[in-house]
Amino acid sequence: MKLKNNTVFDCSIIDMSKVHTKSGNITVVENGPNIPFEVKRVYYLYDVPGGEVRGGHAHYDLEQYIVAASGSFEVSLDDGVNRKRVFLNRPNLALHIVPGLWRELDNFSSGSICMVLASNIYDAKDYIRDYNEFLKLKK
Ligand code: TYD
Repeated sequence: MKLKNNTVFDCSIIDMSKVHTKSGNITVVENGPNIPFEVKRVYYLYDVPGGEVRGGHAHYDLEQYIVAASGSFEVSLDDGVNRKRVFLNRPNLALHIVPGLWRELDNFSSGSICMVLASNIYDAKDYIRDYNEFLKLKK
């Protein structure tokens, strides 16, 4: 199966709503016009040891919002031609990752939480975990 020909330039940072009160903030994500896909799964990475790299794969179909719910980390995006590196450190900012891109997450700060809103339930068949295979599928 061929991979979608999306590029890193199809990914963007979304400034989500923030309800500010003197006792703290709330950010709300609801299915509807404010998110370009229906959220079917939420998962989060935490207790990531210093220096660890996560991700290292691409998806055929899955679309995601990646949020630094706490702390910070960096996301590297790669479409086989272009690369982009994004630093996330605010809970009201989401990185929208479209399908068909290689991604890696690193530089996790101590205690950081990477929350992922995903367009589908977990499906191991949706993953490409070999970078050379990814490059072949992108051609
Ligand atoms: P993996 O996708 O390799 O993690 P990451 O890309 O964040 O480094 O997933 C790690 C393990 O967790 C792997 O055994 C699959 C499992 N997993 C699930 O069972 N369900 C899920 O929704 C996710 C994201 C992972």
